[in-house]
Amino acid sequence: MIEFRSPRPEEIGEVVDLINYVFRVSSGMEPTMGRQFPTLLCPDNASNIYVAVDDGKIIANIAIKKNTGIVYGHKISMASMGAVCTHPDYRGKGIGTQLLNKVFDRLNEEKVGIVTISGTRGLYRRNKCVEAGGINTYVLNREKYSYRDLDGTGYKISQHIDDTGVLFDIYQREPVRYQRTRSEFPVLLKAVPMVHPPVDALTTVLAYSEGKDGAGLAYLIGFEDKPGVFKVVEYAGERLAAAWLAGKLLDDAGMNEIIFEVPTYDTVFSSILDSTGKKGELSYYPSTTVRVVNIESLWSEIQNIIDEMWGDGKPPFAIEDLPENVCHDDLETLTRFLFADVDRLSCGKPWDRVFPIPLPWPNGLNYI
Ligand SMILES: CC(C)(COP(=O)(O)OP(=O)(O)OC[C@H]1O[C@@H](n2cnc3c(N)ncnc32)[C@H](O)[C@@H]1OP(=O)(O)O)[C@@H](O)C(=O)NCCC(=O)NCCS
Repeated sequence: MIEFRSPRPEEIGEVVDLINYVFRVSSGMEPTMGRQFPTLLCPDNASNIYVAVDDGKIIANIAIKKNTGIVYGHKISMASMGAVCTHPDYRGKGIGTQLLNKVFDRLNEEKVGIVTISGTRGLYRRNKCVEAGGINTYVLNREKYSYRDLDGTGYKISQHIDDTGVLFDIYQREPVRYQRTRSEFPVLLKAVPMVHPPVDALTTVLAYSEGKDGAGLAYLIGFEDKPGVFKVVEYAGERLAAAWLAGKLLDDAGMNEIIFEVPTYDTVFSSILDSTGKKGELSYYPSTTVRVVNIESLWSEIQNIIDEMWGDGKPPFAIEDLPENVCHDDLETLTRFLFADVDRLSCGKPWDRVFPIPLPWPNGLNYI
């Protein structure tokens, strides 16, 4: 009989072997999953990992990293899900589905409001996960890019950042982000979790001010996706300085194109990049689905955001107070209303001003 449980800390090695086999070794790649997800696939996180076991052998896995989203200063209890796999000999028997629903039940008991999943496949969609968020993708081209002549601002560029504390200080000021500790930052940066197939290291460029204390202003973290094409996986800080950094990569680092995925809530950066001539292309957060797991917890946490942004009149107190065209009993519709910024149903003001609630960017250093 198949048993569903968390692995014991000493079984983590066997879990990582299964994950490496499914995601790396079976496609001819190096077994890098443990190195790429050091805070997820480790004995300390064993109680947030869920496995199916057949006769003592681990045959399926779902790994969770609990995290706190911070949206305009308000906390949201979140979790990221990844490394979802079933050994090929056991697929198509409903084991993945059972394990997934057990994980949702557990997260619900633990009062986690929302889980983001790296994947959009049928397994997730059949189980109330939906695409959400919204990004504008910009491909900045060397010939046409115009944010270069800002040298009078006193911006300086640094490519050798020994002290990641300066990056931490910039990220911590972001209005929509994950709670990420000063000591986690270098660990995640070194791990390169979000690049498939894996690369050895990410490139980080930092803009700092020439002023008296040389304060960090903005950073871009990314990698050369194809020759001459730099894909930014995470940016933070002062947006004009971030745009200037992109110009430096085009001019001084020999890049032909820079790819930015800019969340739709970041209207400041979008308007800067729009003014270079080419609009971004709108899509959901790529390769991601979202599932509300404990609606009561989530609602009470986002209530503060709603109250603050509402304006005149009484803000909605309960989920039932949401507009009539949002079906509250249907989790998928509700999740889209709360968090999706593509193909939105217009509900008029103030609803359209408050919703969607921004979600932290899932494909940066916190990628699972
Ligand atoms: C994805 C994976 C974990 C599914 O595990 P599993 O134990 O076979 O899952 P289940 O048997 O519960 O069901 C999954 C599959 O059975 C079929 N299936 C099950 N119930 C179904 C239903 N009601 N209707 C249609 N198809 C169904 C589907 O093909 C489904 O795969 P899908 O997600 O591509 O639609 C497994 O195929 C795997 O390890 N794949 C490789 C790793 C991977 O891609 N992981 C996901 C990363 S996003």
